[in-house]
Amino acid sequence: MTSWTVRSVASADARFVLFPSMGEYRAYDDHVYDAFDAADDRHRAYRDAVRAAAHGKVVVDVGTGRDALWALEAARAGARHVYAIEADARTAERADEAVASAGLGDRVTVLPGHSTEQTLPVRAEVCVSDIVGNIATAEGAIPILADAGRRLCTPDCVWIPYRMQTWAAAVDLSASDDLALAGESLPYLRAIFDSAGGPFDPRLCLAGPVDDVLISSCAPIESVTFSSGAPPQCDREEISLRIAAEATITGVLLWARVAASRRGGREVDCLTGDTRAWAPVYVPLPSPRPVVRGEHITLALDRTTSDDGVHPDYDLTLDGDRAWHAPHHGGAFRATPFYRRLFPPAEAPNG
Ligand SMILES: C[S@@+](CC[C@H](N)C(=O)[O-])C[C@H]1O[C@@H](n2cnc3c(N)ncnc32)[C@H](O)[C@@H]1O
Repeated sequence: MTSWTVRSVASADARFVLFPSMGEYRAYDDHVYDAFDAADDRHRAYRDAVRAAAHGKVVVDVGTGRDALWALEAARAGARHVYAIEADARTAERADEAVASAGLGDRVTVLPGHSTEQTLPVRAEVCVSDIVGNIATAEGAIPILADAGRRLCTPDCVWIPYRMQTWAAAVDLSASDDLALAGESLPYLRAIFDSAGGPFDPRLCLAGPVDDVLISSCAPIESVTFSSGAPPQCDREEISLRIAAEATITGVLLWARVAASRRGGREVDCLTGDTRAWAPVYVPLPSPRPVVRGEHITLALDRTTSDDGVHPDYDLTLDGDRAWHAPHHGGAFRATPFYRRLFPPAEAPNG
């Protein structure tokens, strides 16, 4: 494998740090599953939606995770039966243990394996999943849930979440041109490169206070709605953003917003809300560009399914020009000045 070094910093020592977007790779460990257990906005929104929908119903939980959170919540809310599917074998074993220790083994069946390879003895009337990515569609929710809708669910199934979106805004990080990777996230980056067979320019999340780096209005750049009897709807959105101040666009921030339930309830916004499950993705432009207040920019996010058949590759265009090419795996390494600075040549000292 190509050798690589990366600029890294302890996150406590920097105003902003980067870390790799992980959900679209097999890079979860206990720290990540612990974050899903946090009693935050996501947790409350899913919990309320599951409690409202599950009573008396057959439920399928696609990607139940280590703690079978929503499968157990559905069973406690009186679901007739819950099928909890988990692709990762070790995680499925842990989910089985969680179900047994909750004493709900007679009401929850854990099915190890990918949902597309499962069949159920009866179709589910409620489908709950959190395969929402930092870019909402990045974990393959569209093909995975389209398959579940066709084969595992009833035509009038209740979908949790009901809608997931990716929002976008322009940002100016020119005052932070020394952006580095959080040292704590290096093992995850290694796991991602290993799973892809070598290094490539990864999708990067931004941690830090974003309020004063946004320099434009914001709008949803992809929006996926799940409704009864229809495949997930996702139209290509071309959005126009108004620049709010004289600044330099160094990049675009993309972040998820998730409506767990169709009937009102809370919409989780990973930029402004309290959630540890998602983080905004920083898309660095190939070359920063000065802008003035009142100017408009046009953005579009094109999505094609990668050669694994599940995870999307993305292209972001800015005013009609390709500004970011982000294949799920196997893309270029150090393709732009931003990534060459982040991944300095191997002989340079690390950090
Ligand atoms: C973000 S975690 C969510 C865990 C838990 N459901 C929650 O909401 O806290 C996503 C889980 O889905 C699993 N997964 C992803 N795609 C899957 C699929 N098609 N079939 C089964 N499991 C899947 C992953 O292995 C991971 O454990």
